Amino acid sequence: MKGVILHGGHGTRLRPLTHTGPKQLLTIGNKPMSKYALDDLVEAGITDIAMIIGDVYPEKVKEYYGDGAKFGAKITYIYQEKPGGIAQAINLCKEFVGNDKFVVYLGDNILKGGIKEYASTFNSSSADALILLCEVDDPSRFGIATVKDDRIERIVEKPKNADSNLAVIGIYFLTPDIFSIIDVLKPSGRGELEITEALQNLMRNGKRIEYDYVTGWWKDTGTPQDILDANRFMLDEVKRQIDGQVDSENSIQGRVAIGSNTKVASGATIRGPAVVGTGCKIEAGVYIGPYTSIGNNVVIRKGELENCIIMDSCEIEASGRLVDSIIGAGSKILDAHAMSPRGHRFLLGERSQVML
Ligand code: G1P
Repeated sequence: MKGVILHGGHGTRLRPLTHTGPKQLLTIGNKPMSKYALDDLVEAGITDIAMIIGDVYPEKVKEYYGDGAKFGAKITYIYQEKPGGIAQAINLCKEFVGNDKFVVYLGDNILKGGIKEYASTFNSSSADALILLCEVDDPSRFGIATVKDDRIERIVEKPKNADSNLAVIGIYFLTPDIFSIIDVLKPSGRGELEITEALQNLMRNGKRIEYDYVTGWWKDTGTPQDILDANRFMLDEVKRQIDGQVDSENSIQGRVAIGSNTKVASGATIRGPAVVGTGCKIEAGVYIGPYTSIGNNVVIRKGELENCIIMDSCEIEASGRLVDSIIGAGSKILDAHAMSPRGHRFLLGERSQVML
């Protein structure tokens, strides 16, 4: 079986974080979201993987993954010139897939527990596709499946008045039969070739789609809130591991992972679940609270943080408490209290968001 990771798209709802890179490289629990997809594929024994990259800094994807060898995979890059939908991206993989079964993993979907069991079920099944379903509160955001008498009856993309709350998650087990279906697909109302419509047409052509339910949690990380939620879910799994230098053991409470070359001064408190990357400096008086991920080479001189994602190379010296925040790589939050005239000072990029 082969693997395909979709790594394109514009990530408009995540701007400004996506002005400088593809959304799938944003980190959750200090790991790029698409790396979860890659790890799941590799864990399922699927190492021959195509990555579909788009026009948002595709070179950053290549720089991070390279040829895949360091992650136990062999990666083939395929360019999707313009975002034209999931089905259009899949159709670019005809040659790569050949006659094999394959799994398409949207690089912005995160699934607890991986795909190993589903992959082995599909491998030994004669079904033409296997989809995974998960109950959602807001069916109008997803592809929705209606199940009747243990069979998929219908799959509709983002229905306005849904008769089911079962989302078709962004991990699709397919056979090359899907290509001839996509070849004759017409763009949807949003101008995309929809995978859900392709699956619906597959059934119409008499092919068999199996389904399974997601047992753990699943997240499509389209919005900043989704990213914070996914970060929380991931940190719930974190194990205590201290590789850096901690001046006082009292500083580290509970399940906290601290990377090498990170220094935590005595008088700082890190309360898990939390992760701190490599090469960071956490100074005395700083409080890093539960559900916070701190990237690599971050300096925190002052401040309290809770339920935050601080990406690589940030500098923080805040007089208050930061909560529910995502801070993009290389950002600085500095203290203006001692400065004159008194007041907040900003240097914000396009579409930034500040809540004071
Ligand atoms: C896409 C699919 C949708 C699926 C979702 C899962 O939606 O079109 O069917 O349920 O991914 O993440 P989009 O991310 O394009 O809104």
